[in-house]
Amino acid sequence: MLPSAKAQAAGAPVEVDISKLEMGQLLTVEWRGKPVWIFRRSQEVLTTLGSMDDTLRDPDSEVTSQQPEYCQNDTRAIRDELMVLVGICTHLGCSPTYRPELAPADLGKDWKGGFFCPCHGSKYDLAGRVYENMPAPKNLVVPPYYFEGDNVVVIGNDAEGVA
Ligand code: FES
Repeated sequence: MLPSAKAQAAGAPVEVDISKLEMGQLLTVEWRGKPVWIFRRSQEVLTTLGSMDDTLRDPDSEVTSQQPEYCQNDTRAIRDELMVLVGICTHLGCSPTYRPELAPADLGKDWKGGFFCPCHGSKYDLAGRVYENMPAPKNLVVPPYYFEGDNVVVIGNDAEGVA
């Protein structure tokens, strides 16, 4: 059973069925009043993430406040293909826009897919890592989460217990 709206607002974990989530598709759910994004990444995207280090402020996710320990890895995820992020810019709290396409006219030929914050122009890659020299100081937050079987992700709890 899913928690009630009141329980969710108070911070109860949110269960999300990802069985119909297609490659590249982004799903937004609400957890503790914040948007949380869940999206699938292709092998091509994962390969690109591995080549971005020189352009990022914190490529190795060393700022520990921005993700649980189990997501301090190359893809910032438990399962490489599935990304979970809090959709709030670490500058002043706008919600960035999902821009997975390559080299769109407005973001330039070097754009490899990511998130663009319309408020002051911060850019993040598809692991939520902020580019260098942006207004945003940190990577996007990865919330605590775990999987229940293949097709359900639970946002707001670690596998060991309440976050
Ligand atoms: S709030 Fe995102 S760049 Fe300022």
